[in-house]
Amino acid sequence: MLWIGTSFKMTKTRAQAAEYAARLRTEVGRDGVPGVQPFVIPSATSIAEVAAVLGGDSPVLVGAQNAHWEDAGAWTGEISVPQAADAGARIVEIGHSERREHFGETDATVALKVRTILRHGLIPLLCCGESADVFARGDSVEHVLGQVAEALDGLADTSRVLIAYEPVWAIGEHGRQPRPDEIADVIAALSAKWGDRVAAVLYGGSVDQSNAGTLLRVPGVDGLFVGRAAWDVDGFLSILATARAVVGG
Ligand code: PGA
Repeated sequence: MLWIGTSFKMTKTRAQAAEYAARLRTEVGRDGVPGVQPFVIPSATSIAEVAAVLGGDSPVLVGAQNAHWEDAGAWTGEISVPQAADAGARIVEIGHSERREHFGETDATVALKVRTILRHGLIPLLCCGESADVFARGDSVEHVLGQVAEALDGLADTSRVLIAYEPVWAIGEHGRQPRPDEIADVIAALSAKWGDRVAAVLYGGSVDQSNAGTLLRVPGVDGLFVGRAAWDVDGFLSILATARAVVGG
């Protein structure tokens, strides 16, 4: 099973998100994509809309881009895991590098969040990845394994967890597409340490239609987490089609 997902990050009105979801509903249908688990992670304002348009029995999972570790309380600007679930989210993304850089997300808060998400029966999508400096020093494997250990060590059951390896130097407009050999060691290390204990190890960062097939064939990659290239629904559908072809051999 390959997991193929996208985060809208801070894009799309509710109407635009609903239009995207309607296309997905039509194109993916009720039966889904054989061998592929698609997911979409809208902005918080559109989670309920997207979940409603897709419908409860959709093969496409819906997620939230962040949630707090407390179930409720005086945390202005935050949403809780129960609120995300109530809106229709089954996945909660945590630890994305943009949140670590700009919003103070740390390994410690990620660890708290992963426990809350699991306690509520949702799927944590744990993002990890090293900076360009760490990559240049050749310390990527140690750095990323450390991030994941902080989040998951001590948990009895991590079988629902998705790990997304997203090197910071590869993410976003200022990122660059990695060569397969540049991500192979970290993916192999994650796969060796966590592969049997988590649902999947994904790669993310400058994925698009041109490199999706190559990246999906890196040993240990169980899926892709896509930003910009999937903000247009046709981009997402085309990467889903690539994944389907890879699964089909
Ligand atoms: P990108 O974003 O595909 O636009 O590089 C990836 C991510 O942040 O997950």
